[in-house]
Amino acid sequence: MKSVLALVLAMALASGAFAQQGKKYDATWESLDKRPTPAWFDEGKFGIFIHWGVYSVPAWGPKGKYAEWYWSDMQKKDGETWKHHLATYGEKFQYQDFAPIFKAEMFDPAQWADVFAKSGAKYVVLTSKHHEGFCLWPSPQSWNWNAGDIGPHRDLAGDLITAVKGRGLRMGYYYSLYEWFNPLYKSDVKAYVDQHMLPQLKDLVTRYKPDLVWTDGEWDHPDTTWRSTEFLAWLFNESPVKDEVAVNDRWGKDVRSHHGGFYTTEYGIIDGKTPLAEQHKWEECRGMGASFGYNRNEDASDYKSTAEQLQVLIDTVSRGGNLLLDIGPTGDGRIPVIMQQRLIEMGDWLKVNGEAIYGTHPWRVSSDGDLVRYTSKDGAVYAICLKWPGSDLALPSVKPTDKVAATLVGRDGALACKNENGVLHIAVPPLTVDEVPCRHAYVIKLTGVE
Ligand code: GLC
Repeated sequence: MKSVLALVLAMALASGAFAQQGKKYDATWESLDKRPTPAWFDEGKFGIFIHWGVYSVPAWGPKGKYAEWYWSDMQKKDGETWKHHLATYGEKFQYQDFAPIFKAEMFDPAQWADVFAKSGAKYVVLTSKHHEGFCLWPSPQSWNWNAGDIGPHRDLAGDLITAVKGRGLRMGYYYSLYEWFNPLYKSDVKAYVDQHMLPQLKDLVTRYKPDLVWTDGEWDHPDTTWRSTEFLAWLFNESPVKDEVAVNDRWGKDVRSHHGGFYTTEYGIIDGKTPLAEQHKWEECRGMGASFGYNRNEDASDYKSTAEQLQVLIDTVSRGGNLLLDIGPTGDGRIPVIMQQRLIEMGDWLKVNGEAIYGTHPWRVSSDGDLVRYTSKDGAVYAICLKWPGSDLALPSVKPTDKVAATLVGRDGALACKNENGVLHIAVPPLTVDEVPCRHAYVIKLTGVE
């Protein structure tokens, strides 16, 4: 009996289940920064970001711009967005008039969850509320400006988290601290934080028990105004998700890359000034094109190819990061087919090569030239080639030993290894397109190397 208990405990400890349990955190960065990133987040590597809201109805921005900024961009009367708005909807049509048109009538959470599961992503992050303030759940704090009261008349955030968790994926929410046009925010930020924002954020957490709280829109005020450390102490000490919840670093002006949970980059940059500290857990987020919210202005040529998306994933993981790849569903509730296709093709690659991604650590070096990215796990080193390596693959960063062995992941059989003047060379078999185990990137698994 004793040994069974010991085994169960050992397994639970190994899985990181109790990693944060029992710890109490003070409402100071000094204390909160000591909390480790939950193991599931680091191991998962690949998540899907969803930008969905009232802005998904106009779904428009100048090419290269974020379409979810439509309401804010409309204010510039000499700007492209206002010109488009005027010509399409007329001067009297307000942003609020899009809300009843946001019907999400085609929204099928099970189908979305199926695409996410097929993509190989391990977690999903939905915009519960973007800067427009519209909530995708029936938030009592945002009376008449939420998906329960108007538009879909449905709890989109709740229905999605049930479906996604049902498929064994983790799910959490993006939440914008600020709201562009909320009169309370604009007139009395303290009252906004006390009476609107904090009760709302706590409601989101207690209602849906998300695995992740991904805040944004923090840049107007310091963390003291947002009462961020108080919220985080509650989240880590008392909330129903205290042990397993992951958080990011967007908790106040100048907080990114300094405090909080994982650091965030967006299209490869932080805030334009801070260099990324890759030794701290980080996550890169980006759209498949140039926008997070769906932008009808973007064509196929504006979207990264599957090979390019995979390159971003592999490069990010080799440097210790996660990739949070964004999709922008339409106002009627569909994931654009091109986005589904990209995700499913990434999943096809991960089905073969997932062992070189999930649960890996950055290796001693992250790359060899443009061709190779490295990851490591359980004594193995993975040399991930971003294109077909040809017959002779040289890996200058790898120190060969007598025990070196190599395989092409997804195919049986050892590959011949040679030590040429201290540089490891791998003989890659000449495979036809029908024989290669996958497309886009090819993984050589090495053991017995230093
Ligand atoms: C930015 C943008 C926003 C997007 C987010 C994703 O802060 O304001 O539109 O949601 O980053 O990282």
